[in-house]
Amino acid sequence: MTKIRLQCRECQQEYEPTFKYICDDCFGPLDVRYDFPSVNKETFANREQTYWRYFELLPILDKSNIVSLDAGMTPLTKAGDLGEALGLKNLYIKNDSVNPTFSFKDRPAGIAVSKAKEFDLPAVGCASTGNLASATAAHAAKGGLPCYVFAPSDIEQAKIVQALSYGAKFISVDGTYDDANRIAAQIGDSKGIGIVNINMRSYYVEGSKTLAYEVAEQLEWQIPDQLIVPVGSGAMLNAICKGFEELQSVSLLNNVSQIHVHCAQPHGCAPIVDAFKKGSNEVVPVENPDTVAKSLAIGDPGDGRYVLKRLKQYNSYAEESNNKEILDAILLLAKTEGIFTEPAGGVSVAVLKKLVEDGKIDKNDTTICYVTGNGLKATESIMSVLQKPETMQADAAKISAVVK
Ligand SMILES: Cc1ncc(COP(=O)(O)O)c(C=O)c1O
Ligand SMILES: [Zn+2]
Repeated sequence: MTKIRLQCRECQQEYEPTFKYICDDCFGPLDVRYDFPSVNKETFANREQTYWRYFELLPILDKSNIVSLDAGMTPLTKAGDLGEALGLKNLYIKNDSVNPTFSFKDRPAGIAVSKAKEFDLPAVGCASTGNLASATAAHAAKGGLPCYVFAPSDIEQAKIVQALSYGAKFISVDGTYDDANRIAAQIGDSKGIGIVNINMRSYYVEGSKTLAYEVAEQLEWQIPDQLIVPVGSGAMLNAICKGFEELQSVSLLNNVSQIHVHCAQPHGCAPIVDAFKKGSNEVVPVENPDTVAKSLAIGDPGDGRYVLKRLKQYNSYAEESNNKEILDAILLLAKTEGIFTEPAGGVSVAVLKKLVEDGKIDKNDTTICYVTGNGLKATESIMSVLQKPETMQADAAKISAVVK
């Protein structure tokens, strides 16, 4: 069995792997560390087509606690037409919009809900900008646990409908994501509920690192050159870096320090990009986020400081895109590759376009653009740049006139 422990990201103090997420000494966040068993390419080769194929590298101790919706092992699509439009020869889309609840959040939520079962917690919950709500609620439903969602009241309707359908108790907070997050933290601690992205965050982020594992395996254990990652709290970007580093530590990859890991944020909520461009190590929170990319509307990113460190470590950039660029990018991706993403994915594509135009990505680089959520979750905003079809009389002659 793989042995795990928790370790403080700041002072390196180690702890038993219990229901705990902050260092007693310095209040730093705790990360899961492993004594990995020996693995090789063949270890994973013929396993299930889900992220649970990497079980030895994940923090669940007993397989019987796994709550799985079969998420992960999503397509890594060679994007020839989008690549041509952007001027790239080796562009891939990691299409996480096709996960069971239609976003990458099935990865961290599945790990955290499984860990909540392992800890025998009475209930789970999350603070959410929309996608995590459904990912947590669906896994809780499958695992037979009650689920409490705390989300700002202005998120997309589809995300609310979806989470409610899985049976979650949905607390719609009149405020920002940061308000919902604060309340979820207080309630989680006072009631002993496993809030997946707060008091279970150390385990939760381990799900997102499978976005690195899968890309590496799908590239036949070669490192990519460039990654474009959409960033809200920064947890996913940090976890992707951790994932590549772990693959190097088990000798499945070499030279991971050569990968560039770019941070993509929406204008109107880009506190990490602002800090990066100022050359600052401190992230100044955005009080009232204003962007079409609601799933990235996190004004005070929990892992912001660590994203800045990663950008330095991997010699990478942070860039933003505005609403128009985001919506244009959604349509460009849809029309070139047949992939329909929500605004978070539009942010990735729009920022990729800028980085190429600015000469920061070479046309021959193996470039991975992470597309993390599905367009069906944000039809209101996408419709704003489309023309509503006019209803026509059911008359073949009249309709024939408009079909060229
Ligand atoms: C579709 C989508 N992409 C990206 C992110 C950003 O993830 P993180 O908050 O880990 O930076 C989110 C966060 O909610 C999301 O819903
Ligand atoms: Zn510490």
